[in-house]
Amino acid sequence: MISVAIVGGTGYTGVELIRLLSSHPKVSVDLLTSRSHAGTRADQIFPSLRGISDIVFSDLGDDTLNALQKCDVVFFATPHGVAMQQAEALTQAGVKVIDLAADFRLQSLVEFEQWYQQQHACPELLKSAVYGIPEVSRDKLRNANLVGNPGCYPTTAILGLKPIIEAQNAKNTRLIDERIIVDAKSGVSGAGRQAKLALNYAETSDNFEAYGVTGHRHLPEIEQGINILLESQFTQRVRFLPHLVPMIRGMYSSIHLELTDAGKAVDWQQAFEDSYADEVFLDVLPTGIYPDTRSVRASNRLRIAVYQNNDRAELTVLVVQDNLVKGAAGQAVQNMNVMLGFDETLGLNFAPIVP
Ligand SMILES: NC(=O)c1ccc[n+]([C@@H]2O[C@H](COP(=O)([O-])OP(=O)(O)OC[C@H]3O[C@@H](n4cnc5c(N)ncnc54)[C@H](OP(=O)(O)O)[C@@H]3O)[C@@H](O)[C@H]2O)c1
Repeated sequence: MISVAIVGGTGYTGVELIRLLSSHPKVSVDLLTSRSHAGTRADQIFPSLRGISDIVFSDLGDDTLNALQKCDVVFFATPHGVAMQQAEALTQAGVKVIDLAADFRLQSLVEFEQWYQQQHACPELLKSAVYGIPEVSRDKLRNANLVGNPGCYPTTAILGLKPIIEAQNAKNTRLIDERIIVDAKSGVSGAGRQAKLALNYAETSDNFEAYGVTGHRHLPEIEQGINILLESQFTQRVRFLPHLVPMIRGMYSSIHLELTDAGKAVDWQQAFEDSYADEVFLDVLPTGIYPDTRSVRASNRLRIAVYQNNDRAELTVLVVQDNLVKGAAGQAVQNMNVMLGFDETLGLNFAPIVP
């Protein structure tokens, strides 16, 4: 069995990792950290885990690193700035590290320090980190020791744009205008399990608001993701606007693009279907069917619909995922499976929950 540690087990992505990994046939979660609940059984905090896991939260203080070094894989389900303090020692000890925060997402140190307002503790390691969307970087992930698990919004935007950017590369002709608009909505669990006034029930329920209007940390990540895909001379500009909607889980990104004459000649439904035909977690819906967040709840699936209107030169791509699964913990487990050479679906092959 592969020995796994989760740092930050009391948060939403942490408990989601426990849920997913408890049905994984090849791993055992041997260490689960929490500073605030050390010594408490996880199923006392999360009764959903009763009968599933009897693990106890630990806070080993200065000995944490020693304990983590004994594991094969460490997931950091912590705020930004935590994983980078230990990633170097862990990777040197041969441990595979997957950070769900942003420490290893942006390849540019300047952008990291500008958007996250902190100095990077191990800038040299950034170069060897792989940005972990398996459907984009599967080959690199196979040899990776350190993975920056993507942000939830960027996963929807990058996977919603990939077939278009790749088609444009292949034709070496502009198929869409330079401007890309990503209008995205997230459920409240996207902000984590912290007690904050703005996340109170009375503030978030029966309400709908935009945030990050002047700039959001996921913008440079989306742009980086597009740049990784771009192999042509064409540049793209992104306008990204996130919203908070009164649901617990779920994310809905509407991507608006303007087609060029060459772009109108493409059958985009077919292009998306061909592009993702072999991807078990990516579902391109038939023409005329539009996705809803409930159709992916608690699952690692991401569903996409394509709407093409040549009269108006419009291409709209609608993408849904569960922010805590394909948007975080599920994708992290998928990355681990690729890194360890396992079947990518282990621990992840279950149907969404309806209603
Ligand atoms: N929520 C989402 O939908 C989502 C999606 C994609 C990515 N992410 C990213 O995933 C990470 C975790 O998100 P979350 O929503 O699970 O957060 P969360 O609910 O706020 O949980 C954070 C966890 O980290 C622990 N922690 C906090 N500071 C720590 C420190 N200095 N050292 C060690 N542990 C620490 C906390 O436990 P103790 O305080 O008890 O130690 C807690 O278990 C974040 O970086 C977030 O941006 C979240």
